[in-house]
Amino acid sequence: MAIEIRELTIDDYEALVALWDETGLPYRPKGRDRREAVARELAQNSSVFLAAEEDGMLVGAVLGTQDGRKGWINRLAVRPSHRRRGIGRALVNALETRLQSMGIEIVGCLIEDWNESSMAFFARLGYVHHPDIAYYSKRRSPET
Ligand SMILES: CC(C)(COP(=O)(O)OP(=O)(O)OC[C@H]1O[C@@H](n2cnc3c(N)ncnc32)[C@H](O)[C@@H]1OP(=O)(O)O)[C@@H](O)C(=O)NCCC(=O)NCCS
Repeated sequence: MAIEIRELTIDDYEALVALWDETGLPYRPKGRDRREAVARELAQNSSVFLAAEEDGMLVGAVLGTQDGRKGWINRLAVRPSHRRRGIGRALVNALETRLQSMGIEIVGCLIEDWNESSMAFFARLGYVHHPDIAYYSKRRSPET
């Protein structure tokens, strides 16, 4: 069955959360990943949220964003049963193409240090690791 990469819509929200649960990807159900927050982001033209679908089923997704300067890969996930078939690569390639058409020439992602498979994946796709960069953030609440 062929994989289709398409725009994600808010109607995919329940399937998206089920996908995150199945992949064990940490997400913020009461914070920035709650339905209203995802809907708000989808309405902004700075978001490129993509779905990978097979036979009408969501098998992968990525929440791409851009801040006018850089593009960001967030919440990339592929169903465990569908991995190593090029779906993650297809999602990232499609995201890169869309970001490029918006004038964005650098794309980054933040990967937690335990996530070695994700690091291997991004290295395979030509992304460069920056061990010299420390990530700092300021949150209004732990749920954010
Ligand atoms: C990371 C993830 C999205 C990869 O998806 P995928 O569809 O299996 O990846 P692909 O099949 O497109 O693989 C692309 C390349 O990466 C390599 N790759 C994928 N997973 C890998 C792994 N665990 N270890 C080493 N290489 C890996 C593949 O071999 C392939 O290389 P090739 O095309 O040269 O053979 C998937 O494993 C996943 O959902 N992980 C859990 C969620 C997660 O950690 N997301 C990232 C958060 S930053």
